[in-house]
Amino acid sequence: MRKQIAAANWKMNLTLQQGETLIDELLSAPHDLKENQQAVFAVPFPYLINIKNKLAGKKNFFVAAQNCSDKKSGAYTGEVSAEMIKSIGLQYVVIGHSERREYFNETNAVLAEKVNICFENELQSIFCCGEPLAIREAGTQNSYVETQLKESLFHLTAAQLTGFVIAYEPIWAIGTGKTASSEQAQEMHAHIRSVMTKQYGNDVAETISILYGGSVKASNAKEIFGKPDVDGGLVGGASLIAVEFAAIINALK
Ligand code: PGA
Repeated sequence: MRKQIAAANWKMNLTLQQGETLIDELLSAPHDLKENQQAVFAVPFPYLINIKNKLAGKKNFFVAAQNCSDKKSGAYTGEVSAEMIKSIGLQYVVIGHSERREYFNETNAVLAEKVNICFENELQSIFCCGEPLAIREAGTQNSYVETQLKESLFHLTAAQLTGFVIAYEPIWAIGTGKTASSEQAQEMHAHIRSVMTKQYGNDVAETISILYGGSVKASNAKEIFGKPDVDGGLVGGASLIAVEFAAIINALK
């Protein structure tokens, strides 16, 4: 059974104290994670250890870094390596969020390096893909996303991609309040799975969790997550509100 994941992406929001309060509130809100379900918190680097400690012993709760360097180590002031993230006991790293691609010029080739370095450190990437508005309006989103997958993931082996996590986030739906319809999400998720099937076969593609991101809220999560190829969500704005994110966790299949 594929992992169903509700991933919170705090981005560059909240102080440590606000973040800890949010986690306390969330843990006291009713939530119930089944065996195949996970809640993942992608929090700012300085709080990774604090939030990890807060979630210690909570079954199926994980902490993720929002990024890592494509370099192993060395003179790269301000960067954080995959090895460092591994050394504090994390399992997940968000790779290639559209804000990293857009504001920090992360190309598909750089992201391929980041995915590699995560594998070397036994970290699970949450690999983000998704098209900007102009591509959606031109109707070429399928080939656009396919190229992102090809150029960043297709060098990997079938074993590496078994149980992998991809997040599809149409850029026009991120932080805009404009959600893709559940049909649009399903259509792209099915396309992503078919691209992975073509390259790696059905057995591998069926194990890949594909999360939807872009204005997921408590009010639309159930409908979106209910689609057959949607395995949860990567959630920005609504993950900063405890009751919202608790409801999103409870909307997982
Ligand atoms: P949003 O962000 O939920 O605020 O649209 C999603 C994301 O960027 O991961």
